[in-house]
Amino acid sequence: MNANMSNTKLVVGNWKMNPATGDEAKLLARKTRHAASLLEHISVVVCPPFPFISAAVPGKKSPHFHLGAQSVSIEEGGAHTGEVGAAMLKDLCVEYVIVGHSEMRSLGDSDEMVSKRLKAVLDAGMMAILCVGEKVRDESGSHFDFVREQMKKSLANITKSRSSGVIVAYEPIWAIGAKEAMKPEDVCEMTIFVRKIFSDIFGNDTAQKVRVLYGGSVKFENAADIIKIGQVDGLLVGRESVNVAGFVDLLKAVDEVK
Ligand code: PGA
Repeated sequence: MNANMSNTKLVVGNWKMNPATGDEAKLLARKTRHAASLLEHISVVVCPPFPFISAAVPGKKSPHFHLGAQSVSIEEGGAHTGEVGAAMLKDLCVEYVIVGHSEMRSLGDSDEMVSKRLKAVLDAGMMAILCVGEKVRDESGSHFDFVREQMKKSLANITKSRSSGVIVAYEPIWAIGAKEAMKPEDVCEMTIFVRKIFSDIFGNDTAQKVRVLYGGSVKFENAADIIKIGQVDGLLVGRESVNVAGFVDLLKAVDEVK
């Protein structure tokens, strides 16, 4: 059983820079929401690009469908061209925000910047999905040190009492946008490791409750094994989250995991 003892799996769909139009975004959100409403043990979060968040807002609140965003400014407001603030997202009914995604890190987000974004999310009363993960793996096991450092630095500004607003998504960069996901057995090793680091930072009681997700080439075919064998509390899904048929099958497969 996953450490937070919850039977509800969190599946986050990161739409990235898709789809092309607001109408498509509306349809994708509606179909995803409908699929989620038919399932019992799933909570879905869709993270559209900023301009399409409004199009994905559900008519009425549902325990199975939530809105997320792909990033947030560290600023509260004012003269910051091109930025979108946490309060603006909150106003659009956004409840979750991804921070530290490797595609943002590759554009220059340092761990320090990630920690500021994470703080902005928590200050606004939303949940932060903190992405961590190594670029490469080798025999020396340096990926453990890498992930430990990323977590420590990204969580540096957070007190224990606020750590309940953090979800950790372990996403090995080499598995993102790849052909194959990480092996579920290896996911399990990292799930345990991420909890251990969380425990070192915030204490064991908190580490038992934190939700740990896996991301990187998750599809319908591998989702159930990653949840079951990988011992994660959910998934962060890129490509398959904008492929309605595949995503619906993926949600069903996760819902059936006992
Ligand atoms: P992918 O992306 O599912 O397309 O590999 C995952 C992610 O970047 O979050």
